[in-house]
Amino acid sequence: MKKVFITGACGFIGSHLVEYLLKKRIKVVAYDLYNSNNNWGWLENNKNDKNLSVLLGNISDLKSVESSAKNCDTIIHLASLIGIPYSYNAPSSYINTNIIGTYNILEAALRLKMKNVLVTSTSEVYGEQKYIPIDEKHPVEASSPYASTKIAADNLALSYFKSFNLPVKIIRPFNVFGPRQSSRGLIPNVILQILNKNKEIKVGNLYPKRDYTYVEDTCEAIYKIAKLSDKFNGEVFNIGSNKTYSVREIINLIKKLTKSNKKIKINSIRVRPKKSEVDILKCNNLKIRRSCNWKNKHSFKKGLIKTIIWLQENKDKFKSKIYNI
Ligand SMILES: NC(=O)c1ccc[n+]([C@@H]2O[C@H](COP(=O)([O-])OP(=O)(O)OC[C@H]3O[C@@H](n4cnc5c(N)ncnc54)[C@H](O)[C@@H]3O)[C@@H](O)[C@H]2O)c1
Repeated sequence: MKKVFITGACGFIGSHLVEYLLKKRIKVVAYDLYNSNNNWGWLENNKNDKNLSVLLGNISDLKSVESSAKNCDTIIHLASLIGIPYSYNAPSSYINTNIIGTYNILEAALRLKMKNVLVTSTSEVYGEQKYIPIDEKHPVEASSPYASTKIAADNLALSYFKSFNLPVKIIRPFNVFGPRQSSRGLIPNVILQILNKNKEIKVGNLYPKRDYTYVEDTCEAIYKIAKLSDKFNGEVFNIGSNKTYSVREIINLIKKLTKSNKKIKINSIRVRPKKSEVDILKCNNLKIRRSCNWKNKHSFKKGLIKTIIWLQENKDKFKSKIYNI
């Protein structure tokens, strides 16, 4: 792994992954959505790193992806539209970015004879649990337009392995959290509501349980899978902690850590439609632990404390009117 092309590199996980690889002195071509200000998102502080080049384009454009990824040996594809609520309003954007975009990555990788391709999926593809904890053999079932586009992208990637021998692996993170996450994510959203002047903490359903991994641990997992190169082509890897917390437990823990006594209020516009809600996503991470020797270094509490401190210092980077989650 000498030169890595990362899509979605200016976003939350992408920017941490870029910095993680740069620390290992790996060259990175960071690719993200074009904007007329040439804004590098969360990579703005890395402008002087000589091992980093940033290219802006759109993964919906094969020509742009192919020309940008040339001379790289590995692709880590993170770019995606990720908000579940927004996928109810704009499903065709999700189809374009998440399905057509992934097709363009796979096709470019094939044409460029890429040695190693990682496609990022999500635990949301598992839908309502048939059994827990969820291993990689658990059936997939789309509960939202977002999940359906990620299932399609995963299947396309696996078909490129079976049909054209493209050296592709699917990484399936459960929930990820940490500094720089969008304020649509539950954890930054609740912390920002506490730090802002809101009287109450407004959220959707309190009972769903999720499995959270601190973003630096997710980056290490992605790096370890990428390093295995040909050994696990055509395979899927879950990344998670094997522990779950309900929305209510998370809010109470954040309240305790921030010494907040704000009341929780259910806001109907934040509640997912009943059939679209997924009650529990608990990871079985045995495969990545055994095959890549990976495990979480941050406990949930330690990760939360780091995230709270970061948000206290960077609150002004987020709009005070918090988006619906
Ligand atoms: N954050 C989580 O909890 C989580 C959990 C499971 C899976 N994932 C997956 O991880 C990946 C990264 O998620 P994230 O949380 O960092 O999201 P993010 O929104 O912070 O980052 C996504 C990046 O992709 C870029 N992007 C979107 N459309 C693009 C396009 N058409 N062309 C080029 N770039 C485009 C965005 O500008 C953004 O920088 C996604 O594939 C997501 O599905 C995230």
